[in-house]
Amino acid sequence: MTSNILIAYFSHWGHSKEFAEAIQKLTGGDLFEIKTSQFYPEEHDPCSIQAHKEQLADFRPELINQVPDMDQYDTVFIGHPIWWYREPMVIRSFWEAYDFSGKTVIPFATSGDVGIENTEKDTKEFLPTANVKKGMRLETHAVASSTGQIREWLKKDGVIK
Ligand SMILES: Cc1cc2nc3c(=O)[nH]c(=O)nc-3n(C[C@H](O)[C@H](O)[C@H](O)COP(=O)(O)O)c2cc1C
Repeated sequence: MTSNILIAYFSHWGHSKEFAEAIQKLTGGDLFEIKTSQFYPEEHDPCSIQAHKEQLADFRPELINQVPDMDQYDTVFIGHPIWWYREPMVIRSFWEAYDFSGKTVIPFATSGDVGIENTEKDTKEFLPTANVKKGMRLETHAVASSTGQIREWLKKDGVIK
């Protein structure tokens, strides 16, 4: 059976991927990794310099893969690490690559300490015709111990019962 839920994510070090997989287990949705041709250094400092440059330049990293059939989904989770207080620029590339009109869009993120408020605000700004629901942010290493909290959030947003 095909799902009407998509869980799209970008993850550099794997923690947001782990969050995406936890959502997948609880919802039975389809997972999609957002991939770009941009190379990001593994280490924090050089990666941080590059991410900041991209943000200041309002740069759009090139996407190298596509969701096979976006029309099939009514609910799209979009996840990422927080980079410089908000979403990495590749998330903006993803927002701009599809028509999200009428879809429910739910942001999620992992970060050292910054919340998801900027991402929620940006999601609403970039996707004005989507129904953007309350997002969830977890601390980098907290995904494994947060299954209960994730389940509660999904219930509140009406994705699971
Ligand atoms: C380029 C870069 C910028 C970051 N900026 C922030 C930030 O502004 N605030 C924060 O709390 N964490 C920041 N972090 C930490 C990551 O958000 C955090 O470790 C996240 O869980 C990594 O997710 P990932 O494993 O999916 O890549 C940054 C990390 C990197 C590499």
